[in-house]
Amino acid sequence: MSQKKDMPDIRSTRDGYSSLDISASMAPVWCAILYPNRWTLSTHMQRTIVKKILHRNHDLHLLANDSIKDQLMLKDRALSAAAEGITISDFSLEGNPLIYANEGFERLTGYDHKDVVGKNCRFLQGKDTNPATIEQIRQAIHSQEPVTVEILNYRKDGQPFWNRLSITPVRDRDGNVTHFIGLQSDITERVKTEQALLKATEKLETTNSRMKGDLEAARQLQLDMLPNSVPDLPYLDIAVKMETAQEVGGDYYDFHVDRAGHLTLAIGDATGHGLKAGTIVTATKALFNMWAHLKNPVHFLKKTSGALKNMGFRNMYMAMIFAKITPGQLVYSSAGMPFAFYYDASASRVEELVVKGMPLAAFPDFAYQKKIIDLKSGDLLVFFFRRDSGTAQ
Ligand SMILES: Cc1cc2nc3c(=O)[nH]c(=O)nc-3n(C[C@H](O)[C@H](O)[C@H](O)COP(=O)(O)O)c2cc1C
Repeated sequence: MSQKKDMPDIRSTRDGYSSLDISASMAPVWCAILYPNRWTLSTHMQRTIVKKILHRNHDLHLLANDSIKDQLMLKDRALSAAAEGITISDFSLEGNPLIYANEGFERLTGYDHKDVVGKNCRFLQGKDTNPATIEQIRQAIHSQEPVTVEILNYRKDGQPFWNRLSITPVRDRDGNVTHFIGLQSDITERVKTEQALLKATEKLETTNSRMKGDLEAARQLQLDMLPNSVPDLPYLDIAVKMETAQEVGGDYYDFHVDRAGHLTLAIGDATGHGLKAGTIVTATKALFNMWAHLKNPVHFLKKTSGALKNMGFRNMYMAMIFAKITPGQLVYSSAGMPFAFYYDASASRVEELVVKGMPLAAFPDFAYQKKIIDLKSGDLLVFFFRRDSGTAQ
C-alpha cells in the first residue's frame, strides 16, 4: 500500500497484528484509527501507538475529542451489530487477505475473526462451489470493479450455505484501490425455495408434456377409429364434414353396410372431452360393430345404453342417432342428439325430425321413439353432431 506522507504506516501482518512506523509526519486525524478495538491491534499496541504519537505531536487534540471518539465507537458497534457479514481485505498485501471481519461474519460462517484475519476469503469455498462464479469474482477484483454474486460457501462445521456476496473496491484520495469491502448475506432459504420451485415446475412440465403426448395419441386413435371413407351406394350420396378438435373429443360416426346394401348409420357425441369421452366412444364403436345388424333402432339404443351403463362410466353419457337407410326408407331413433332435418324434394319442404330421448348409459329402460320416413329421389337428410356450433353434419 502506498502510504500518504502524513499517515502512520499501520500494516497488517500475516499473524493478524500490526506494525507501526510513525517516522513520517502525520496529521492528528489518523490517530482515530486506534479506537475501533476490533481492528487487529492489541491494546498494548494501541497504547504504544498513542504514546508515540503524543510524543511526536503535542498538539494532538483529536485523541481527546470525545465526539469523534464516540462516532468511531458507534460505527464500530454498528459494524459489529450488523446482521450481514462485513469483511475488509487489504489489497496492498500479498494475496489480498482479510484484515477485518465483523460479528455478522462470525455468525454466518462460524469462523472467529481471529481465524480469518490474514487469510484470503476463498477458504469459504468448497467442492460444489461454482468455478464460474469464482472466476467472475476474480475478474472483478482484477479489474478493480464492484461485483455481486450468489455463491455456495461452507461454514466452519462444513454446512453449506448460499452467500449473496457483494465486493466493492475502496479507493484512496488518488483513486488507487487500497482495500475491498465484502458484504455477506445468508440467502440459503431463498435459494432453497427457488430450487424447490424450479424442481416442481420441471416436474409439472414433464408431466404436462407426457399428458399432452398421451392426449395427442388418444386423439389420433380416436380419429383412426372413424371410417376412412363413406360407403359407395347406388341409391344414396353421402357427405360428412367433421372438424376435429385439438383435444380428444367425443364426436363419433360410423357406417355399416349389409349384404343387401342397406346402410346403418351411427352418429354420436359423448358428454365432455378428454380421455373419458374417448373411452366411451371406443366402447360405443365396439357395440356398434356388434349390433349394427339389429333391425330396430330402439333395440340397438336400449342394448347399447345398458351395456355402457354396466361398464360403469361414471357421469359419462353418449348421445346417439341410430338410423337404417334402405332405398325408399329411413327408420331411425335418437338418444339425446340434435334434431335432424329432412328435405322433402317433391313438396319442396324442410321438416325437423323431432325425436327426443335420454342419452345412452343413463336409463337403459328409457322408451326411445322410432321415426320412419319414406324417402324419394332428390330428398335430403341432414344430421348434426352439434347444432349450435354447426361443426359437423
Ligand atoms: C473483501 C472480500 C470478501 C470476500 N468474501 C468472500 C466470501 O464470503 N465467500 C467467497 O467465496 N469468496 C469471497 N471473496 C472472494 C475470494 O476471496 C477470492 O477473491 C475469489 O475466490 C477469487 O479469487 P481466487 O480465484 O484467487 O480464489 C471475497 C473477496 C474479498 C476481497
